[in-house]
Formats: sequence, structure tokens, C-alpha cells
Amino acid sequence: MVELLPSILSADFARLGEEVQAAERGGGTVIHVDVMDGHFVPNLTLGPPVVKSLRRVTHLPLDCHMMIENPDDFVEAFADAGANWMSVHYEACRHLHRTLELIAHHGMQPAVVINPATEVDLLIPILGMVHHVLVMSVNPGFGGQSFIPYSLNKIRRLKELRQELGLSYRIEVDGGVAHDTIALVVEAGAELLVAGSAVFSGGNPEQDARELLEAAQL
Ligand code: DX5
Ligand code: ZN
Repeated sequence: MVELLPSILSADFARLGEEVQAAERGGGTVIHVDVMDGHFVPNLTLGPPVVKSLRRVTHLPLDCHMMIENPDDFVEAFADAGANWMSVHYEACRHLHRTLELIAHHGMQPAVVINPATEVDLLIPILGMVHHVLVMSVNPGFGGQSFIPYSLNKIRRLKELRQELGLSYRIEVDGGVAHDTIALVVEAGAELLVAGSAVFSGGNPEQDARELLEAAQL
């Protein structure tokens, strides 16, 4: 079962509630929230107050993608604000095992993210701890970038490892997922499909979400 995760990064922040509800009507089942600190990635976005406001406009799970240094410092604040899933970057965590435990301890689903230059097999020791693995198919920081084709190999490898290790984590993909790439990522094994500009940049999130989901059915 594939799910569409609209990424609010490309939404109109002045009308965030309406944008999220439109994407939900179009079939989005989890809201993807990009948190950036201007250090780990060269851009700034939002923090717990926005998550708290989102919590009031939707019942869908809020998937917080933490593109920040020292994510441990913010785990509690995001949990209190109403975040449900939290993914942290392999590249940003000196003690990844501890961070994943901390996220679970605060009642959220823990997940790990890898940048395009990071190899999947580095995650083997912690794969049993995560709800999902997020494969970045662009370099994190901005919406609207082009999909990196090598990401398909990583998705396939995660699917193979899941089988080999007898695990049940889900496979998420983020970056450049649009009408021309969505079937490719699903075919490779991705189940949680993040899309920002493909949902929010065309001015009709409900219809664009629906069309993306149709394109994802193989
Ligand atoms: C980028 C973010 C993505 C972003 C994807 O760093 O992690 O979630 O919104 O945008 P698109 O779908 O436009 O590539
Ligand atoms: Zn993201």
C-alpha cells in the first residue's frame, strides 16, 4: 500500500490550514513537515509552534523531517507540539542509537534519513529500531529539485535488507517525486511518497495530490 505525504515546504504558509486540508481531500494520508535550521542545511523553516497549529487543523499523522544539528535538543518540544513521526539524519547524529531511543521514549515513531551520498548499509545496526527509513532523492534544503536516479538502487537495497533481516520498517522517499518519477520509486519499493512542489506549486493541491496517487498505482 503506497501513501502520499504532502510536504508543506511548498505550501502557502499564510494559508497553511486550507492547503493541508486540500491535500488531505486529494488523498494525502500523512503530512510531511520539513524542519531546517540554517546549519545542517542552507535554509530555515519552522519549529514547534507551527506543528502545534497544524495539529489543530488535521488528524493526519505529522511526519517531522529534522534537517537540523543536535536534533536531541528538540525531541521533547516537537512531541509536546503534537508530532507523530520524527526522522533524523544519519549525518547529523553522533549517537544515532541514543537519538532513536529518545524519540521513541517521547511517544513518536522513530525514523532515520540518509542523504544522497550516504550508503544504505551503514544503517544495518539500527534498522530494527525504526518505523521507517527515509531516502533523500535530492540534497536536502529546498523543494523543486530534480530526482537523483541512484536513489532507486537505495530503495531496492532497503527492500532486500528488510526481507533478509526479517524486519518491517517502511520505505519513504523524499525529493523530486512528481508525475514523471512516482511510478519509478513505487516500482523500486518505496511506500511512503513525499511530494512538495508536485502537490502545492500548481495552485490546486487537491487535484494534484489525486493525480499523483493515480500515477503511483502500478
Ligand atoms: C527537501 C525536503 C522535501 C521537499 C521536497 O529538503 O526534505 O520534503 O519538500 O520537495 P519536492 O517534492 O518539491 O522535491
Ligand atoms: Zn522532507
